Amino acid sequence: MLVVIHPNKEVGSNQAARIVADQVHRKPDSVLGLSTGNTPLATYTELIRMHRDDGLDFSNVTTFNLDEYYGLPREHPQSFYAQIHKNFLDHVNVRPDRTHIPDGGSKDIAMACFDYEAAIRDADGIDLQILGIGRTGHIGFNEPTSSLASRTRLKTLSDETINDNSKITGDIPQVAITMGIGTILEAKQILLLAFGEAKAKAVAKAIEGPISSSCSASALQMHRDVRFILDEEAATELRHRSYYDRVIEQTTKYAPELLGIAND
Ligand code: GLP
Repeated sequence: MLVVIHPNKEVGSNQAARIVADQVHRKPDSVLGLSTGNTPLATYTELIRMHRDDGLDFSNVTTFNLDEYYGLPREHPQSFYAQIHKNFLDHVNVRPDRTHIPDGGSKDIAMACFDYEAAIRDADGIDLQILGIGRTGHIGFNEPTSSLASRTRLKTLSDETINDNSKITGDIPQVAITMGIGTILEAKQILLLAFGEAKAKAVAKAIEGPISSSCSASALQMHRDVRFILDEEAATELRHRSYYDRVIEQTTKYAPELLGIAND
């Protein structure tokens, strides 16, 4: 795990965008896992700018979104389908037939989830997964007590998540289709972004707490290539803060290649 603490959200978001851009440069047909919510918005804005100004080309990229409310038509402004289009996909050149978002309108939920897993497999898996984190420590909509081996399925949302998310978008359904924790852990590289004090407790549990279904993000401790991109506020509850800074300092000195572009 690499824990990188940035002075603020803007710097962290720009660095996340550079990591995504670097992935797309290295492998133009990359498979990207996308997340919705407020957290990755500035990263998407920077990627859109790179597409517009620097010619960052998404024409061979495939995308899979993490989750979608169940029971909202795609065209509903609160659907994650509508949000990811408005905030990212509509502004870059990802081909529409290469974008995937769980079908929150499907009548056959089990089949929709099975098909989603199959589509990820057919694409040879996700190269780089972008994640946010909920205050309950959830990734995707894997609420506390989600199986750490879970696959894409229907999940019932917790009170905290319903409250938090309805503050942003208005009333939301109580269920969603989400990639499972097992699905997420199969991504080759994972970037978890967390900004602001409201995320500090969940971040500390995810990074330093026991691996537990009570905090689904703690399962990321088992992933071999995960990077937490934080701002100072989201890092306030970390006990080993000075160690994370030393890791960056020493790695920069002796093995900067391990940081990729994370420390430029
Ligand atoms: C939702 C999404 C998560 C997201 C989380 C945090 O519950 N399912 O994928 O990470 O909210 O959202 P925000 O970034 O708006 O704080």
